[in-house]
Amino acid sequence: MRRQWKSCFWLSIHFASYADSVAAANPWDAYIHSPVSRYINPISAHSTVGTVTTTGPSEGQETYTLSPNSRLTFDFGVEVGGWISFSASTTNATNTSTPHLSLAFTESPSFIGPLSDDTGATTTQNHDQALNVTLPQGTTVYELPREKFRGGFRFLTLNAAQNVTVFNVTCEIGFAPKTRYLRNYPGYFWTPGDELLVRTWYAGAYTVQTNIAPQNTGRFLPQVSAGWIYNSSLGIAAPILLDGAKRDRAVWPGDLGIQGTTAFLALGADGLEAFENALETVFYYQNSSTGRFPFAGPSTGSFRSGAQSDTYHAWSLISIFNFALFVGDEAWVGTHWANITRGVEFILNGIDESGLHEQIATNDWARQGGGGYNSALNALDYHALSSIADLGRTYTNDVTVHAQAAEWAAAAETLKAEYNKILWDPQQNMYRDNQSTSLHPQDGNALALLYNLTLSPVQSSLLSVSLTRFWTPLGPVTPELPDTISPFISSIEVLAHFTALQPKRALNLTRTLWSYLLDSPLMTGSTLAEGITANGSLYYRGDAGYKKDARYTSLSHGWSTGPTAALTFKIAGLEIVGWRRWIFAPSGESLRDVKAGYQSPMGMFSVEWKSRDDVDGAFDFFAKFTTPEGTNGSIELPWKCKEVLLDGVILKSGIDIEGRRAMILQASSCT
Ligand SMILES: *[C@@H]1O[C@H](CO)[C@@H](O)[C@H](O)[C@H]1NC(C)=O
Ligand SMILES: *[C@@H]1O[C@H](CO)[C@@H](O)[C@H](O)[C@H]1NC(C)=O
Ligand SMILES: *[C@@H]1O[C@H](CO)[C@@H](O)[C@H](O)[C@H]1NC(C)=O
Ligand SMILES: *[C@@H]1O[C@H](CO)[C@@H](O)[C@H](O)[C@H]1NC(C)=O
Ligand SMILES: *[C@@H]1O[C@H](CO)[C@@H](O)[C@H](O)[C@H]1NC(C)=O
Ligand SMILES: *[C@@H]1O[C@H](CO)[C@@H](O)[C@H](O)[C@H]1NC(C)=O
Ligand SMILES: *[C@@H]1O[C@H](CO)[C@@H](O)[C@H](O)[C@H]1NC(C)=O
Ligand SMILES: *[C@@H]1O[C@H](CO)[C@@H](O)[C@H](O)[C@H]1NC(C)=O
Ligand SMILES: *[C@@H]1O[C@H](CO)[C@@H](O)[C@H](O)[C@H]1NC(C)=O
Ligand SMILES: *[C@@H]1O[C@H](CO)[C@@H](O)[C@H](O)[C@H]1NC(C)=O
Ligand SMILES: *[C@@H]1O[C@H](CO)[C@@H](O)[C@H](O)[C@H]1NC(C)=O
Ligand SMILES: *[C@@H]1O[C@H](CO)[C@@H](O)[C@H](O)[C@H]1NC(C)=O
Repeated sequence: MRRQWKSCFWLSIHFASYADSVAAANPWDAYIHSPVSRYINPISAHSTVGTVTTTGPSEGQETYTLSPNSRLTFDFGVEVGGWISFSASTTNATNTSTPHLSLAFTESPSFIGPLSDDTGATTTQNHDQALNVTLPQGTTVYELPREKFRGGFRFLTLNAAQNVTVFNVTCEIGFAPKTRYLRNYPGYFWTPGDELLVRTWYAGAYTVQTNIAPQNTGRFLPQVSAGWIYNSSLGIAAPILLDGAKRDRAVWPGDLGIQGTTAFLALGADGLEAFENALETVFYYQNSSTGRFPFAGPSTGSFRSGAQSDTYHAWSLISIFNFALFVGDEAWVGTHWANITRGVEFILNGIDESGLHEQIATNDWARQGGGGYNSALNALDYHALSSIADLGRTYTNDVTVHAQAAEWAAAAETLKAEYNKILWDPQQNMYRDNQSTSLHPQDGNALALLYNLTLSPVQSSLLSVSLTRFWTPLGPVTPELPDTISPFISSIEVLAHFTALQPKRALNLTRTLWSYLLDSPLMTGSTLAEGITANGSLYYRGDAGYKKDARYTSLSHGWSTGPTAALTFKIAGLEIVGWRRWIFAPSGESLRDVKAGYQSPMGMFSVEWKSRDDVDGAFDFFAKFTTPEGTNGSIELPWKCKEVLLDGVILKSGIDIEGRRAMILQASSCT
């Protein structure tokens, strides 16, 4: 589905500047990992085993001649995905009892070798193996069969069984199929002198771009072995937002809670379209008798077995709320209001006389335990109820909807009060996992902080400090899934520290974990992994479903992209917080100069700010920003300033500001 976009003016400038991109490059363009074209060649021959001879270049490319039992690995430089082709020549002495060569695809540099990464978890790392290719005699162009689509890899290894010559190895990029210029992101983030943050933002953006899939590239089930087939329908429409590039290649509502926001902020209309198609799929499969949203999209074993999840149900509503705010489209919300209402009622039906929701369907992001009045579930439910109530109160004048909204908001407040009575542990300054355990989880506590389950700023501050108890030199190790560092839950934690007004702590965590995800030699250097173990290995979930198969772990997973949203919404500070409503609340930490922007159907949001020390240890703050007409918002500077001027007029705090194309904010002598 395509929606109407305002600000075509802006889009046309953007496309014009693409044409002049060499002359008019932005400093952040160098951090964009997306390929320049939909057909790309490897950047290098990474390594060889056995006898491989190179001739050329001819027509700009090398020709490689491989002897029997030799191996040649190509490096695409970044994570890619799609279909391989190459020109090949065989000798006439064909050995008909063996294929000419086989193709192996790997994401991590540490798994380069004769076998592909696994997309079905097995203990022996031999599920996918390598794709055998038998070529005709003479010279030919080989094209990967369409169902052998490979969603995520950086390295391609050719294992030769016979003499064969190859030329023009090419990857046809499969992801983001409607995006003409893959590098032309409508959103941007920039801060000079803090390269790690800029790299983190762009790795998040690219990760999510690789998660935008063409239709019929889901895993065929039951999965074939050995080998792979990716030809199944992913949802009711495409392009569609999936959890990971390599696998599962499926819609998962928990993942959408983080990646949907990244898709919007970085990729604008194309990101929103993929997010929307994922949500439409979730609506389509909503259970019509219970109102429950599915745990996962149709191309998963979880969907087919009827597995259900209370947390992912709440994540569905939260993702729907986020999408509604990003597009600000009353018709879209109105069309889905009956479904949304059914979804909210599912939660209300789950809340018992205690005011809390007992977790029955404990399927979740992979964590152990669960059950009882689970803290993560009830924090998610609280946010789902209160935010959807807020949407109902603001998107329409319909009094019936307002009455529903008031009821949901009241249920949310009761839940919050009981949550604190039953789950807060004042000895630990944390919430327990449920009423009858001494486990204090990272997920429930990060969600409680992010979604304001706390009753006071003091409590938020204590909780923010307590979360750092899980920190290690690589990142927080989750008590609820031992030996695991989860960039999904840590994405939530990064966002959460901002609500406790702790930007330094949020950026510390970002620098710690995301520098590892970017720079560890295990990674792709361009996309973000779904998880690691406490020691940084890729044996994520080794004992929790992934059968000690490190090659199964996805290295391009949109749920790990929380810092992209944090940098735009919380550091640059221009965030959509309600129905056609924004807030400008920058948080500087040590940053002095920040630019960010994103394109919504309501219009462009952009901000550019600088701070400069003045003589007496204070600083001056200067910002230019743009918000769409038809929106309104407020400004909250986190400092005390002698004077704050908006467009030259003294700004009174708490005042409502109507969106306009250019505003200038000047604050002097801030501390
Ligand atoms: C290989 O076979 C093709 C026909 O299949 C023939 O045209 C070509 O001349 C042969 N090449 C050599 C080197 O024998
Ligand atoms: C492979 O090529 C080598 C070198 O050109 C040649 O000596 C050998 O006979 C060839 N083997 C086959 C099976 O064609
Ligand atoms: C043909 O390939 C098979 C399987 O790899 C091998 O056992 C056999 O020795 C090869 N024959 C020749 C003539 O190279
Ligand atoms: C590829 O071919 C080899 C040799 O013929 C065979 O042993 C292997 O099982 C085949 N692999 C797959 C995945 O079919
Ligand atoms: C390389 O392959 C691509 C994709 O099939 C094709 O478009 C291109 O023309 C080929 N280039 C050369 C030099 O053969
Ligand atoms: C996918 O491929 C499998 C194996 O070739 C085939 O049985 C199935 O019908 C295909 N599915 C679709 C939707 O094309
Ligand atoms: C809907 O939920 C009910 C109750 O859990 C279940 O019996 C039914 O099978 C579900 N329907 C579908 C289509 O999954
Ligand atoms: C949700 O929406 C779909 C259309 O996307 C509709 O077919 C379905 O009946 C609705 N389910 C409920 C529970 O309202
Ligand atoms: C409470 O949480 C713990 C840890 O997640 C879990 O093992 C236990 O089963 C839960 N208790 C109930 C009553 O579900
Ligand atoms: C968070 O909750 C407190 C009371 O529990 C409330 O005063 C405050 O306004 C809430 N903050 C937000 C951002 O909603
Ligand atoms: C980040 O936090 C850790 C643990 O609290 C602390 O040791 C470290 O100094 C902090 N780093 C920075 C750069 O603030
Ligand atoms: C890292 O942790 C994994 C999983 O616990 C383990 O299998 C692996 O041996 C460890 N690696 C090192 C280098 O300690």
